[in-house]
Amino acid sequence: MLQVEAIHSYYGESYVVQGISMVLKEGEILTLLGRNGAGKTTTLRSIVGLKPPRRGKIVFMGREITRMKPFEVARLGIAMVPEERRIFSSLTVEENLKIGIQKGRVGRWTLESVQKLFPILRERRHHRGNQLSGGEQQILAIARALMGNPKFLILDEPSEGLAPLIIKLIAETIKSLSTEGMTILLVEQNVEMTLQIAHRHYVLDQGKIIYSDTNEGLKNNREIRDRYLSV
Ligand SMILES: Nc1ncnc2c1ncn2[C@@H]1O[C@H](COP(=O)(O)OP(=O)(O)OP(=O)(O)O)[C@@H](O)[C@H]1O
Ligand SMILES: [Mg+2]
Repeated sequence: MLQVEAIHSYYGESYVVQGISMVLKEGEILTLLGRNGAGKTTTLRSIVGLKPPRRGKIVFMGREITRMKPFEVARLGIAMVPEERRIFSSLTVEENLKIGIQKGRVGRWTLESVQKLFPILRERRHHRGNQLSGGEQQILAIARALMGNPKFLILDEPSEGLAPLIIKLIAETIKSLSTEGMTILLVEQNVEMTLQIAHRHYVLDQGKIIYSDTNEGLKNNREIRDRYLSV
């Protein structure tokens, strides 16, 4: 589904993503783990066209997307839920959801079906973004991404700052989306959560992938977890 081939990305002179390669298969949950500042968000931004890599290549469903604009990437079926969630505070829940609609992309996800998936969004449909809790905002951000009926969903630290119950709901949702065939790239600091749901993991350190393994493999590798993933 997605091939990232040795991408290199910079902020000015600052060399942040230093030759990252990844492969994602359809229906897979893959994580990108690593400490603060490792380059996880920058890697995601490179994939979706917000920070095109200076070198390297990105191929999605057989099509090169390396230099595409973010809106073009979205139309091909890649949706990202950013770290900051980006909920519009003066718009209602329903209006925020409608922003997720992607022209030409129809499918199983509609206003109705995302409200069915997350009943809280129906209950709060007339609330404004700034009246929502952190957890509700995260759920809204995920639902808004689904509204575009993506084939590939990218989530940047969805559990950050949230209560255990909401984290559990988000984890279960990610798992069930993948069971239905959605391909998911998940960036997380919450390694425990990813060990419950992911198929494979990549560990990033200082802009390079220093470890990749199956879920079982990472579960059994205390050394990697202690060295690169302890908070
Ligand atoms: N807009 C920017 N301008 C300049 N440098 C940046 C910018 N965004 C990030 N960086 C730097 O790039 C490096 C990688 O940042 P990035 O946000 O990709 O890390 P991360 O792994 O997502 O970290 P975190 O877990 O804190 O979200 C860091 O050193 C950071 O300071
Ligand atoms: Mg980040």
